[in-house]
Amino acid sequence: MSTDAEIRAALISALDWQVELGADEAIAEHPVDRFAATAPQAQPDAPTKPSAQIMTAAAGVQSVDAGHGPKAGDPAKRAMQRDVSTAPPPPPESPAPESATLAAQAQTLEDLAEKLQAWDGSPLKETARNFVFCDGLPGAHLIVVGEAPGQEEDRQGKPFVGRAGQLLDRMLAAIGLDRTSDDPARAAYITNILPWRPAGNRTPTPDEAAQFLPFVIRHIQLAQPKIILAMGNTPTKALLQTTTGIKRMRGQWVDHTVTGLPLLPSFHPAYLLRQPADKKLAWHDLIAVRRALDGENPT
Ligand code: URA
Repeated sequence: MSTDAEIRAALISALDWQVELGADEAIAEHPVDRFAATAPQAQPDAPTKPSAQIMTAAAGVQSVDAGHGPKAGDPAKRAMQRDVSTAPPPPPESPAPESATLAAQAQTLEDLAEKLQAWDGSPLKETARNFVFCDGLPGAHLIVVGEAPGQEEDRQGKPFVGRAGQLLDRMLAAIGLDRTSDDPARAAYITNILPWRPAGNRTPTPDEAAQFLPFVIRHIQLAQPKIILAMGNTPTKALLQTTTGIKRMRGQWVDHTVTGLPLLPSFHPAYLLRQPADKKLAWHDLIAVRRALDGENPT
């Protein structure tokens, strides 16, 4: 019988071992009670397995030589075994109609924010810390639509406040815009396709983007911009209902028929931080936005 201290020491060493393997997030989409998970009973005539299947957040399921991990029968091993019966439930089957109905009912931005925050159609809500709806000035001529909150946005409850957000602010400043301005012609309004951070900062799936799309469309309608700047693959694909990637889409104005607004796809600032050589293309896009804001017909 293991004492509490032994179980604690074994769990700590198991966590250390996972960190060494590259697991960098202590969360998953759904909480899993590892203590409730039972170890599979050994079959009397089943061959002995040479390796243990261990789940790590960063590396997925890996076969690990039994000699390097916790020993069979360890409380830590039992705690880490993944019981498929406790795996995350699949997303609700057809939440989109519900999100479309709810979104269509919203008559103000406040109303939309309330409905969106309360909506239980997505499991993303369960792992995010904060709801991230918007920043900037409603009625600003430009709306920027990003992908989803990152770690810093999740912490602060505001879009684009991390490193990518700082670059976005510099990009906007380069064309005379400032999200803190109270002049609609000089301000920007900022939102994302997803209002909740996907655990581990992963890219939202197309299904997740589709689930939230009716809210985003209503958000744009209620914010009343003149121009949409879609930053990156996720907002471009979701808003334009395309599978074509951002490298082919960027820089070309599209008439966004659902809102009746001109939409320009461009690179996401986080991508530009990784690929600074593409900043020159982003600069072309910013100039195109400036011209459209100045009254040039963009499409
Ligand atoms: N990336 C996004 O797409 N949106 C944010 O709010 C932050 C980072």
